[in-house]
Amino acid sequence: MAEVKASLICGVIAAFLSSAVLAFVEDLDDTFKDSRVNDIWLVDFYAPWCGYCKKLEPVWHDVGVELKTSGSPVRVGKMDATAYSGIASEFGVRGYPTIKLLKGDLAYNYKGPRTKDDIVEFANRVAGPAVRALPSRQMFEHMMKRHDVLFVYIGGDSPLKEKYSDAASELIVYTYFFSASEDVLPESVTLPELPAVVVFKDGGYFSYDEYEDGSLSSWVNKERFQGYLQIDGFTLYELGETGKLVAIAVIDEKDPTEESGRLKTLIQRVAKEYREHFNRDFQFGHMDGNDYINSLIMGEVTVPSVIILNTSNEQYFLPGEPIETMEQLVQFIKSVLNGSAQAYGGDGIIQRIKRVGFDARSTVMSVFRSSPLLGCFLFGLPLGVISLMCYGICTAETDDGSDDIDALKREGLTDEEEEEEEERQRTAALAGPEEEEEEEEEEEGEEEGDGNEEEEMDAGEKDPQEKKTD
Ligand SMILES: *[C@@H]1O[C@H](CO)[C@@H](O)[C@H](O)[C@H]1NC(C)=O
Ligand SMILES: *[C@@H]1O[C@H](CO)[C@@H](O)[C@H](O)[C@H]1NC(C)=O
Repeated sequence: MAEVKASLICGVIAAFLSSAVLAFVEDLDDTFKDSRVNDIWLVDFYAPWCGYCKKLEPVWHDVGVELKTSGSPVRVGKMDATAYSGIASEFGVRGYPTIKLLKGDLAYNYKGPRTKDDIVEFANRVAGPAVRALPSRQMFEHMMKRHDVLFVYIGGDSPLKEKYSDAASELIVYTYFFSASEDVLPESVTLPELPAVVVFKDGGYFSYDEYEDGSLSSWVNKERFQGYLQIDGFTLYELGETGKLVAIAVIDEKDPTEESGRLKTLIQRVAKEYREHFNRDFQFGHMDGNDYINSLIMGEVTVPSVIILNTSNEQYFLPGEPIETMEQLVQFIKSVLNGSAQAYGGDGIIQRIKRVGFDARSTVMSVFRSSPLLGCFLFGLPLGVISLMCYGICTAETDDGSDDIDALKREGLTDEEEEEEEERQRTAALAGPEEEEEEEEEEEGEEEGDGNEEEEMDAGEKDPQEKKTD
């Protein structure tokens, strides 16, 4: 026992030494809670058995190399959240891997794509000041070129500036926040009132109105995307956090027809020309292919077509007739807004049961697709055993009721056949890459349950509690 302990301690010391001297990614243990306070940390909380964590490992190494060699103050670490579950749960870790940037009492969750560039960009953005000053017009113009959506506070010190700082330190996970004085702005920009918070995007600029737009953070949250976007599964998930309805032209970009071009243009025009009317409630864009939407609504949308999704309750709306004019599209959007359009789907109990069946079927499908033999074995064997048992029971049965059982059996069989046929059709319809997207989506779903930033920021305050239990 003592030997084991000694070798464990040696191992820990060795690991600690080597990580302190040369590692780009430091292995963290439970001393981290006390030792971290003076530094900014980017930490991967992982579980040894989790596949996504293994996939992240080489990326994480590259992130460590990049941040260290670029002279960033951010230290990169990883922690086995199963071995140090106490400290992990204190940081609000609920899924694996969880990526967090820890800065003083604040903890920021990373939810973006797990690529080196995205993660490094996130670390640099969040580690820096929440509000960055734009000292000159050149700087302002440079940033305008680099960012599709640019938030700027314009004016001197004011209560609005304080609110802006607060919103910035909460929402820096999503976007940059800048401040500037009026003379830095190009002449073409005229603001009726100063100080002001302005977003530059979609070739124009829009000011925050305290009375009409609600709280500054909810306004920023709604304005942080361009008015019109190319939408994929991940974007859709991100858009969900704005609470807006999403109007999408579903098109085939590899084989664009005239009609799909027209639909895309119509949505683009409505996004721009009806911004005043719809921007508060709608996000606009197009999506390539209908695979993702189909699995979302558990049905099939025609390509090209227009669909409106309510990501808050999983309802969706389809136009009564194909949309050909701007007028029709505007009427359709209005009818969704005033509640007269027919809503489909939703997150009710029936839809949830349908979802379970749908997901189970997709899982079976993906097993068969990647390895038909394994599929036959996994699902065929139990089926065979069950059939044999049924057969045994049926033949052992006395005459009474055997007719009923036969009838049941027949029904069961035909159901199965139908299902198999449907599955086959689905295999034909679904393309290969779909599989990965589904996995990704499931995972995002898991993370959705994660606490928001406010909750995370409490992480530091929980310390006294922990001390009590000590
Ligand atoms: C979208 O869903 C939310 C949450 O259930 C609901 O409050 C809102 O009215 C819905 N919007 C429309 C247009 O149905
Ligand atoms: C809702 O909007 C549609 C389209 O503009 C309109 O035809 C319909 O009369 C409106 N319904 C109600 C109840 O306001």
